[in-house]
Amino acid sequence: MPCLTYRNACVEFVDDVYEPAEDSFLLADAALVFVNRGIKILEIGAGTGFVSAVIQANMDVDLLATDINPHAVKCASVNGVPTIRADMFSAFKPVQYFDMIIFNPPYLPTLEEDKVPGWLNYAFDGGVDGTDSLRRFLENVGLYLCPTGIVLLLISSLTGVEQTISWMQEVGFEAEVVAREKCFFEELVVLKGTLKSKNR
Ligand SMILES: C[S@@+](CC[C@H](N)C(=O)[O-])C[C@H]1O[C@@H](n2cnc3c(N)ncnc32)[C@H](O)[C@@H]1O
Repeated sequence: MPCLTYRNACVEFVDDVYEPAEDSFLLADAALVFVNRGIKILEIGAGTGFVSAVIQANMDVDLLATDINPHAVKCASVNGVPTIRADMFSAFKPVQYFDMIIFNPPYLPTLEEDKVPGWLNYAFDGGVDGTDSLRRFLENVGLYLCPTGIVLLLISSLTGVEQTISWMQEVGFEAEVVAREKCFFEELVVLKGTLKSKNR
């Protein structure tokens, strides 16, 4: 299996699972800035487990990941990331438990004819306007995050940075850009969300 080495982590990747790319690197780097020893982390949509593996290789944390793609669950597990198969938060009770929740969602605007075959489609397909997974995540994430926890969310300028910040505010978060990088036809951005004090 091909293997990618990055910041002390060695991650294997396979067909049918999203291959780590610039978005994965930017999110992993941002996560390393905010991670502290022993915190409870949930990554939604782990793919190969790249982001979580980088965190685990650099900090002693209590981490769990999910993916809807069974090939991703297997791949991330092989890469040493404890991963369960679940659609978004479906495996969890709505308890404010995690100190950090991370998501690099599928965000490409996708019509029926744009879909790629098989499970890999879940890595890219953000619905007709690219925001289906993002909005579903934002509507629910506050139920699983510790009152003082943080959300790290990878988005693209294609998704709309100001629009996403506004959605985060609507569901009770303060949001700020903590990393950004121009990449081909888009700009990749990491948003950090913290619950507004009245929502804690
Ligand atoms: C853009 S890829 C990111 C993968 C990895 N986190 C990374 O940064 O390299 C999005 C991942 O989210 C997963 N995914 C999409 N919808 C999901 C859902 N509803 N529940 C769980 N995982 C989902 C996909 O299968 C895919 O692995």
